[in-house]
Amino acid sequence: MSVQFIENKNLFILSCAKLSCAFYVDANKRLVHLHFGGKVLGEEGLLPQEIRKGHSSFSPWADGEKPEDSADALPLEFSGFNTGDFRINSATVLTENGSAATDALYVSHHIYKGKKRLAGLPSAFAGDHDSVETLEITMRDTACELEFILSYSVFEECNTIVRSVKAVNNTALPLVIRRLMSAQLDLPHTGFDFVQLSGSWSRERHPERTPLHSGIQSIRSVRGASGHQNSPAIALAAHDATEYSGDVYGAVLAYSGNFLIEAECEQYGTARLCAGINPENFSWMLAPGESFETPEVYLTYSGEGLGGMSRNLHDFMRSHLIRDGWADRKRPLLVNSWEAAYFDFDSAKLLGIAESAAKLGIEMLVLDDGWFGARNDDTTSLGDWFVNTDKIGDLGELVKKINALGVKFGLWFEPEMISEKSKLYQEHPEWVLHEPGRRRSIGRQQMLLDMSRPDVVQYLFETISNILHSANIEYVKWDMNRNLTEVYSDMLPPERQGEVAHRFMLGVYRLHEMLLKEFPGLLIEGCSGGGGRFDAGMLGYVPQIWCSDDTDAMERILIQLGTSYFYPVSTIGAHVSVCPNHITGRSTPFATRGNIALSGTFGYELDLTKLTEEDQALVRKQVADYHRYHHIIARGDLYRLSDSFKVNPFDAWMYVSKDRKEALVTAVCRFCQPNSGVRFVRPRGLDPETVYEVDGMQVSGATLMSIGIQVKLEPGDGASRIYYLKAL
Ligand code: GLA
Repeated sequence: MSVQFIENKNLFILSCAKLSCAFYVDANKRLVHLHFGGKVLGEEGLLPQEIRKGHSSFSPWADGEKPEDSADALPLEFSGFNTGDFRINSATVLTENGSAATDALYVSHHIYKGKKRLAGLPSAFAGDHDSVETLEITMRDTACELEFILSYSVFEECNTIVRSVKAVNNTALPLVIRRLMSAQLDLPHTGFDFVQLSGSWSRERHPERTPLHSGIQSIRSVRGASGHQNSPAIALAAHDATEYSGDVYGAVLAYSGNFLIEAECEQYGTARLCAGINPENFSWMLAPGESFETPEVYLTYSGEGLGGMSRNLHDFMRSHLIRDGWADRKRPLLVNSWEAAYFDFDSAKLLGIAESAAKLGIEMLVLDDGWFGARNDDTTSLGDWFVNTDKIGDLGELVKKINALGVKFGLWFEPEMISEKSKLYQEHPEWVLHEPGRRRSIGRQQMLLDMSRPDVVQYLFETISNILHSANIEYVKWDMNRNLTEVYSDMLPPERQGEVAHRFMLGVYRLHEMLLKEFPGLLIEGCSGGGGRFDAGMLGYVPQIWCSDDTDAMERILIQLGTSYFYPVSTIGAHVSVCPNHITGRSTPFATRGNIALSGTFGYELDLTKLTEEDQALVRKQVADYHRYHHIIARGDLYRLSDSFKVNPFDAWMYVSKDRKEALVTAVCRFCQPNSGVRFVRPRGLDPETVYEVDGMQVSGATLMSIGIQVKLEPGDGASRIYYLKAL
């Protein structure tokens, strides 16, 4: 049983293989947090319930309660606003009288097997795992019939608890939600580092680690997308936690729009974490009888450092977030036309690339930007999802010819966008997200469609479906190349404009859902100028996301390892591109570009017709490596072996198959240093008692893990090797 209720103590215990979470209903009906961390065996393993009673008169208590019951001094699962808890909070709801005071107490609970899906939002699923159980706790405001249903789904084998909150207006008057966080977690001390993934376009998700300090530390987005700048996921790592040991708490928000994740160190020496939709300029009108659901947060705990946290989350997302079995399925090994041709292609050029692909064992050609409307550069035609027949002739015929070569076909779209120079804009200028009377912001020569409008979503569904029905298109790359500005919708009254950014996101998710229903099995790759929308929300619809426009292999080490802190390697879009690299101008050996792209979905982003004989031979080897190692990389356990928080002269990481019979170690020398000594890489996660064959030697797992593999590389920047370990 993963959810237990101990009635005589009003105590809830949620148990995973290596994680326990406990809270109880106190005499005043508050939901008091007790434990989130390492596994405890039953109620006897928990600390006594009164873990903290410190308070001063500046921490108020409710009339009729005792001073030590102050909400400000208790660790709570859910907290309101303007009623005594002055910390960052779960919910602020405005009532008809203009008051934002919110305070909710326990009413009832319900435990059931499995997990419900959220309506219109990405959501985790139980799949065929019988052990998944859900606890729903109903809380009610102390002044009105506003209810909050807190949901906790326990994914035992992945050490992950999925949380979300639903607000239900049972009053007779409309209410306005100002803030509704998906989860609040109170931890009993502040000795943590805040670990985040930050960066910019082409430099996404570099890990950063900073000690928590008094006050609030946060990451957020107001871009209408999760953004290149911060990924909606953080870890709180004990100061002494490393990649391999120590306490680490992970929180991943399954949302792709404006988000906030914040941690507050407060006066009594505890830390509170809140994650959810960014309350900045957010409001949601809740009519009587209506409800509002927050996105989900995936909370995990690892006593095995940051690496253990990543492995929990990888297992969880692969089994319970990524749909249609794609997490385990081999993706077609593809070549993408973008860096091969940009806008400059015709059907002959595409067929040439497809012919080369067929000869090299590459399984799919993805036609990127430039195939529609009158688009030959980035100034026109977004929204006109009609084939540019002058450029590529009949799409159905082209795809038939490509398929006849034994190559599949994929196509690029940027559904949420509209160019001023487009037929769609002439017909529907009102579909653009804009605020009447204010000048518009332009980004990459394009504007955004108002995805909160059902007619816009329907138009996109119909036009994209027509294209997908017109040819054998087995893959879609869904791009989004700018962020939201002048977020305002003609469809909504002034008092509801605070809903637009979230409604935009709901429109994006709805379009994904509609397309996946119409085209079951369609493989969609997410993208946003590279990795500007790489988050667990998108992963609820797409099994892979183009990780960065920066395809430089050396740059990709930090980007991909950074991304791997929270997201499975099988979701990371990674391709071999041409050198000198189009963004950095750097040249890296072809073999290394392949070795690094293998730690992702794998493919090519170059003109295959221009490869030298030598590079073609390397492509054939890389294709063989992809097939040989895919199951270990996509389904195995990842261990980062070097310090992924900085640029190192030498990096290494590895994968171990779940049965520990196979492993793959990648070692890369970023900068060659003369006379740099003997270099051993110590693998992790092997079976100490098993003998492995590696590099022509037979060595026990124990010896390998204590002494390591001696890495011998050719001199030169960017030299690399992959070592395959097989249990004998
Ligand atoms: C974005 C993507 C690229 C490519 C271009 C096309 O930048 O990240 O991969 O698709 O758009 O315009």
